[in-house]
Amino acid sequence: MGDHLDLLLGVVLMASPVWGVSPCSCDGRMAVYLSCNLTQVPPVPNTTERLLLSFNYIRTVTTSSFPFLEQLKLLELGAQHTPLTIGKEAFRNLPDLRILDLGRSQIDFLHPDAFQGLPRLSELRLFSCGLSDVVLKDGYFRNLKSLTRLDLSINQIRSLYFHPSFQELNSLKSIDFFLNQIHTLCGSELRPLRGKTLALGLAANGLYGTTAADWGRCTNPFRDVVLDSLDVSENGWTVDTTGNFSKAISGSRISSLSLSHHVMGSGFGFHNIRDPDQSTFAGLARSSLTRLDLSHGFIFSLNPRLFETLKDLKFLNLAHNKINKIADEAFYGLDNLQVLNLSYNLLGELYNSNFYGLTNVAYVDLQKNHIGIIQDQTFTLLKKLNTLDLRDNALQTLSLVPGVSTIFLGGNKLMTLPRTSLESSFIQLSANRLENMDELYFLLQIPHLQILILNQNRLSSCTRSPTPSKNLSLEKLLLGENMLQLAWETGLCWDVFKGLFHLRILHLNNNYLNFLPPGVFSDLTALRGLNLNSNRLTVLYSDDLPANLEILDVSRNQLLVPDPDLFVSLSALDITHNKFICQCELSPLIRWLNETSVTIFGSPEDMSCSYPDSLSGVSLYSVSTEGCDEEEVLKSLQFSLFIFFTVTLTLFLVAVLVVTKFRGFCFTCYKTAQRLVFGDHRREAQPDPYKYDAYLCFSSKDLEWVQSALLKHLDIQYSDQNGFNLCFEDRDFVPGENHLANIQDAVWSSRKVVCLVSRHFLRDGWCLEAFSYAQGRCLSHLSAALIVVVVGSLSQYQLMKHQCVRGFVQKRQYLRWPEDPQDVGWFLHKLSQQILKKERAKKKDDGVQLQTVGTVS
Ligand SMILES: *[C@@H]1O[C@H](CO)[C@@H](O)[C@H](O)[C@H]1NC(C)=O
Ligand SMILES: *[C@@H]1O[C@H](CO)[C@@H](O)[C@H](O)[C@H]1NC(C)=O
Ligand SMILES: *[C@@H]1O[C@H](CO)[C@@H](O)[C@H](O)[C@H]1NC(C)=O
Ligand SMILES: *[C@@H]1O[C@H](CO)[C@@H](O)[C@H](O)[C@H]1NC(C)=O
Ligand SMILES: *[C@@H]1O[C@H](CO)[C@@H](O)[C@H](O)[C@H]1NC(C)=O
Ligand SMILES: *[C@@H]1O[C@H](CO)[C@@H](O)[C@H](O)[C@H]1NC(C)=O
Repeated sequence: MGDHLDLLLGVVLMASPVWGVSPCSCDGRMAVYLSCNLTQVPPVPNTTERLLLSFNYIRTVTTSSFPFLEQLKLLELGAQHTPLTIGKEAFRNLPDLRILDLGRSQIDFLHPDAFQGLPRLSELRLFSCGLSDVVLKDGYFRNLKSLTRLDLSINQIRSLYFHPSFQELNSLKSIDFFLNQIHTLCGSELRPLRGKTLALGLAANGLYGTTAADWGRCTNPFRDVVLDSLDVSENGWTVDTTGNFSKAISGSRISSLSLSHHVMGSGFGFHNIRDPDQSTFAGLARSSLTRLDLSHGFIFSLNPRLFETLKDLKFLNLAHNKINKIADEAFYGLDNLQVLNLSYNLLGELYNSNFYGLTNVAYVDLQKNHIGIIQDQTFTLLKKLNTLDLRDNALQTLSLVPGVSTIFLGGNKLMTLPRTSLESSFIQLSANRLENMDELYFLLQIPHLQILILNQNRLSSCTRSPTPSKNLSLEKLLLGENMLQLAWETGLCWDVFKGLFHLRILHLNNNYLNFLPPGVFSDLTALRGLNLNSNRLTVLYSDDLPANLEILDVSRNQLLVPDPDLFVSLSALDITHNKFICQCELSPLIRWLNETSVTIFGSPEDMSCSYPDSLSGVSLYSVSTEGCDEEEVLKSLQFSLFIFFTVTLTLFLVAVLVVTKFRGFCFTCYKTAQRLVFGDHRREAQPDPYKYDAYLCFSSKDLEWVQSALLKHLDIQYSDQNGFNLCFEDRDFVPGENHLANIQDAVWSSRKVVCLVSRHFLRDGWCLEAFSYAQGRCLSHLSAALIVVVVGSLSQYQLMKHQCVRGFVQKRQYLRWPEDPQDVGWFLHKLSQQILKKERAKKKDDGVQLQTVGTVS
């Protein structure tokens, strides 16, 4: 399942099907008649380029069998169910033919001129046609100027006597005699091939097998032939045969020699058959061999200087033997070796001396051995080593080579990694026993790492969150089949993907995840593919997914009602095998699935309801969303009502807040605005019978407070802004005059008397006297000339204690100095208005009747 990611990202371009046309038909260029019960060549258009006639019953092919097909390039006539007779110049009407395939047709009769008239033929397939030596001896292939590949495998050819006409086949590059019965190869048999460069296949012929060759008499059969490749595998060669053969062909150029499926070597537990030694390949010294395949044999011990003479060897394949011992200097002399394949052997340990001499080796394949221990310097001398494959061994510890850029270590028993600094760009560690997240953090520190594969480990414990790495080059991180849930549920290691700005692919499948740590993917801005397959996620939140994700696999989780908005920016999605709850909440997803252009993996049956029971197993594509719309409307109505009430409530609360907290400020603003709009309405100077606007009566102990709180804001002498002409004892009383007279004078020459009743006021006899006097004025004039302002926290009771005050307090309104400083402005405004309030007219001219007041001693 997780391979969708690779599939898509790897941009696998599926080749269009080969059989674009139905069988037994043609489309002008291609004619396909496979298994069509034909007994002769069907009529096809003269534009046909490819004609496929295999698996039919065609018995005879002659010149007249084919119409003139000037453009035909490929003819397949193999695997006829009946024996085939091929007449003289049978293919003459196909002058442009390049490939002729007669394989697996039993050719009963082949006219010696059957292949004449095919100047362009480059590949002739005659495998498994029941052909004998005659086909070589009798010049069947003469004049095939373009012939490059000749496949004669699986026939009954017993000896290689080539007709002299082979000499003229200048294009010939390859002849395959696989699975014939060529038991010997000797002397001048190949003389017509001299001067050519060929790939010669002689595998599985029993060559030199049954009858021991007379090596003494036999001269080199490959004299003057350059062999691009020589395949003598599957001939059952022993060390002796190999040694004698290599000696016999000494001096011939062979680039690639395949000796696989041999019987050299003692195998495991036997001693009667020899392993190859220093002399076995000595005859190949002058062959310039670059590739030697010795795989699939029984070599147990690689003897000293085994390949000593193979100076040019680049690829050595020793896979699938029984190699358990590597003698000192076994690889001595392989100065140019680049790839050494020792996979599928029986190596149990590696020593420092094992690879001595491989100064240029770049790739060592040691997979599928039983290596449990590696001496620490084993690979350090291999300066050019860049790929090391140690997969499927038994390693528990490891000392790694810094310079190796590609390391395969999967399928071992590693629990920890050595903390050596590495420079690898590719590390494969799947199927090991890594448990602590520290190992992952360590690997993520490797500077140029691009691909890290940690599938099938046990990553689950997180004791601390080490510092995450910054700005790595990591592009692909596979962490499937671990137990990250255990690590993350401790609340630690949530930063493990921090700094991986270049990561493109992340696999977290099969990790028992039931949640994704918030922000765990936040740095993965380059991530294109995320595999969360087979976890236990029930919800996905919008900030769970990286921003630029294209392919997401969340199949086999427990998603209940996924929100399609999460998926709209993807290009491909797999949400099969989840636990969808098919209620109206799911209708956005159902509708989205029906109309989206995002590629949805999996068949509709794999996306089915698991609840309610009545819909269990029903595909999401068959569920109707009818009836869910009304609910939507209702919901949106509910929603608007909710919004409306919320807004109203908020406004109300804001208003309350403003009134309680900022009323003073608001008042100031109001006054300022009023002044700006209506201008500064100073009181018009009317003729006024009073000398003062108000007499401020207060205890002299309160003077300081009164100055700052009242006078500054009201009295004209304190500021030009103020409009009142006030009178108070400390400034306006005539010094030396009788105090009482002063008071009387002040009371009668002021329009209003403002008594600031404070604690001090109540203790001050003069103040109380003034209060009574002012009250008397009120009574006599029935006016409201007295304004009482209670200052400070005086209780009703304290006020009532004084008779004169009590009388007033009981009957008349009085003001209280505001406790909250922000109310002062508003209070002063109110006070000012009270001061300005006109007394009832006319009264002022009445006779002034003074009330006698007792002197206070
Ligand atoms: C060929 O013959 C067999 C047996 O008569 C028949 O079953 C098959 O359908 C035939 N094929 C075609 C393509 O006609
Ligand atoms: C194919 O045959 C048609 C007549 O059926 C002829 O006109 C045309 O020239 C031929 N084309 C070729 C390439 O031979
Ligand atoms: C190899 O050559 C030697 C000497 O020419 C001969 O004695 C021996 O039998 C040969 N071995 C095989 C298997 O042909
Ligand atoms: C080594 O041989 C094995 C087995 O044939 C093969 O799977 C592997 O790809 C080879 N390694 C290299 C590097 O060619
Ligand atoms: C990451 O590395 C690149 C160069 O590789 C550099 O340009 C970039 O500034 C680095 N970003 C951070 C966040 O370190
Ligand atoms: C899917 O879409 C088609 C038209 O685009 C519509 O007719 C059909 O009812 C839709 N099915 C569902 C399940 O919404």
